[in-house]
Amino acid sequence: DAGETKMMIEAHALLKKFYHHLLVNTKEGQEAFDYLQARGWTREMIDQFEIGYAPDSWDFAAKLLLGRGFSPSLMEKAGLIIRKENGGYVDRFRHRIMFPIHNHHGDAVGFSGRLLGEGQPKYLNSPETPIFHKGTILYNFHQARLHIRKHQEAVLLEGFADVISAVQAGVAHSVATMGTALTEEHARILRRNVDTVIICYDGDASGIEATFRAAKLLADAGCHVKVATIPDGLDPDEYIRKYGAARFQRDIIDASSSLMTFKMMYFRKGKNLQNENDKIRYIEEVLREISKLPNPIEWDYYLRQLADEFSLSLTALQEQLNRYRDAVK
Ligand code: CTP
Ligand code: MN
Ligand code: MN
Ligand code: MN
Ligand code: MN
Repeated sequence: DAGETKMMIEAHALLKKFYHHLLVNTKEGQEAFDYLQARGWTREMIDQFEIGYAPDSWDFAAKLLLGRGFSPSLMEKAGLIIRKENGGYVDRFRHRIMFPIHNHHGDAVGFSGRLLGEGQPKYLNSPETPIFHKGTILYNFHQARLHIRKHQEAVLLEGFADVISAVQAGVAHSVATMGTALTEEHARILRRNVDTVIICYDGDASGIEATFRAAKLLADAGCHVKVATIPDGLDPDEYIRKYGAARFQRDIIDASSSLMTFKMMYFRKGKNLQNENDKIRYIEEVLREISKLPNPIEWDYYLRQLADEFSLSLTALQEQLNRYRDAVK
């Protein structure tokens, strides 16, 4: 009910303040603060994203919230504490860097806690609760919304670190799916706010695979999709740390390509286009993709590109394309 929702949001607001305070003002938070600085994030970003530190304690959050009148059952329902078999409770988040996750109004409704080093799970997230639904929240959407409207474009990343580094690099219209599972609802939210979405997922195999899935969902929702690819298997955060903000803007964001060009680059991988078999396979794969495009101007554009590159007749390509189109009908 409404009263309960309000209390859960209050509990998150209170906790995020304390976690942030521990991180930036106390000795307890020093190790976590050093970790964030070593990742290259400025104090300004740490404040803007309200990053915090959950201490190495079994009951820090439970005690704090109990003292402010929040009931254990509410805390449990909000995903902040976990009930033990003996009836006691423990904090869900212990000795982790805390990223508050805000809904689109800007209320903190969940957390993700990162380990200070390597290990599993790297990120521990709030569970699904009455106020937190991972599939309907885009990380940083509340801060990015105005920039998205102004740029008429949104940049879609995988994770917290990518968003923070992108924003620090000046790409303020950045949001993240918190993993690679973009949902139809995410796509609808983006579409309501913007025409063009640049997918900039990690450059590893799972990021590339997820780019295909996300692109389809976004295109089905009516978005114009572009793809920014990060080289050498890096993710956006790693790229920015290695090459700097200016190159991220120029060589990645400004250089983002159309979805078809991204697919063509993908189909070329591992093929030798001097080899006849590879060449024919490549042309077929591209034709199949062209046949799925809704717009005849686009067919024409990409067919010409293929015809030019491989010295083929436009009529032959057109004929083959029509076969694919008939096949899907
Ligand atoms: N994620 C998650 N739980 C995990 C791993 C990942 O929720 N156990 C989500 C997080 O939102 C994470 C995103 O998926 O930011 C992308 O995952 P990954 O690329 O593996 O992590 P990075 O964002 O690169 O994390 P970092 O740079 O901090 O190592
Ligand atoms: Mn801007
Ligand atoms: Mn990843
Ligand atoms: Mn990553
Ligand atoms: Mn990373």
